[in-house]
Amino acid sequence: MTTIQEIMPQTDMIKWRRHLHRHPELSFHEVETAKYIKKVLADFPNLEVSSLTENSVIALLKGSKPGKTIALRADIDALPIVEEADVDFPSENPGVMHACGHDTHTAMLLGAVKVLSTMQDKIAGTVKFIFQPAEEEPPGGAKLLVEAGVMDDVDMVFGLHIAPNIPVGMIGTRKGPASAASDVFTLKIQGKGSHGSTPELSVDPIMIGVEIINNLNNIVSRNISPFDNAVISIGEFNAGKTANVIPDTAQIQGTVRTNNKEVRVSIQKRIEAIIDGICKMYDATYDLDYLLGYSEVNNDSDATDLVLAAAEKVVGKERIFEAPKMMGGEDFSAYTDVKPGSFFILGGGTAAQGCGYMNHHPKFKIMEDCFPVGSGMHAQLIVDILGQ
Ligand code: NI
Repeated sequence: MTTIQEIMPQTDMIKWRRHLHRHPELSFHEVETAKYIKKVLADFPNLEVSSLTENSVIALLKGSKPGKTIALRADIDALPIVEEADVDFPSENPGVMHACGHDTHTAMLLGAVKVLSTMQDKIAGTVKFIFQPAEEEPPGGAKLLVEAGVMDDVDMVFGLHIAPNIPVGMIGTRKGPASAASDVFTLKIQGKGSHGSTPELSVDPIMIGVEIINNLNNIVSRNISPFDNAVISIGEFNAGKTANVIPDTAQIQGTVRTNNKEVRVSIQKRIEAIIDGICKMYDATYDLDYLLGYSEVNNDSDATDLVLAAAEKVVGKERIFEAPKMMGGEDFSAYTDVKPGSFFILGGGTAAQGCGYMNHHPKFKIMEDCFPVGSGMHAQLIVDILGQ
């Protein structure tokens, strides 16, 4: 029996992927990428292709009978990273690299379009293929597409992410929270500078900053249940320039990761209260910019059952694993915030194959023989849900 991966256009997918890999573009600048996707789609039958937001490409495939609308999403943007990967087709845009594998996501979705677009007579319903820009940069391309109405007529949405440290042929997913909400804050403490020999004349923003950071680090251990997950990490603490001067100001930046809406809100409130209290205590003023980033991806139970059923057909039961909750962010959450959906992990290689570098690493690399599995999953989901 022919399996779905065997009819996936592997030669094409490799060609498309390598072209995209050579010509990566940053979030919100995917002009040539979108053009290339449209050029590839132009060769396939039965599609209505449009752009709903800048640099997005939406392809609609209407089946021969009415039915549900199922969305499949690939993200298309790259990262500001100088490529060091061991590949024969490195980035030709200096300082920009497909270091998160979105080139592979795009190629795999194009592969699924190529196959499904010839199966119109077997489909009852509509497939909405979403090539989404700007996954890497908040507010994120998904949010803008949702605001533009991309999900309005959609019944369910699916997406995948490639993982460089999981063997080819493995599919991972989980029900419920699958990624973390990722928020960022920037704090400017306004103290009062003075000579280092006269601390009594100062309001020392360094000491105040240290006290704030120590207290922020107590939030997760003292205010959050051990059964919930949360991370607060400080990534910047800048103040002063020299040994004998107490500076006027200090700047602190940090990130907050949660996968539960109540925990997310309560951490923000604690952070604001701690900063306010400590600054007041020492007569400093402050400016706090708390930016809510992507919310957590929530995998719908029914949609995830469909992923599991498709994965059983594509890779077999023994090659499905329960994906761990990750504290990374993913803007697929904008879709699962409004419609049932499921996001799954696709194995892309192992360290022994030279693929041990995580997403966003300059040496990030994946094995192309996973493409028929990823595109096969897209196609299998449509056959299972809309097939007649
Ligand atoms: Ni990514």
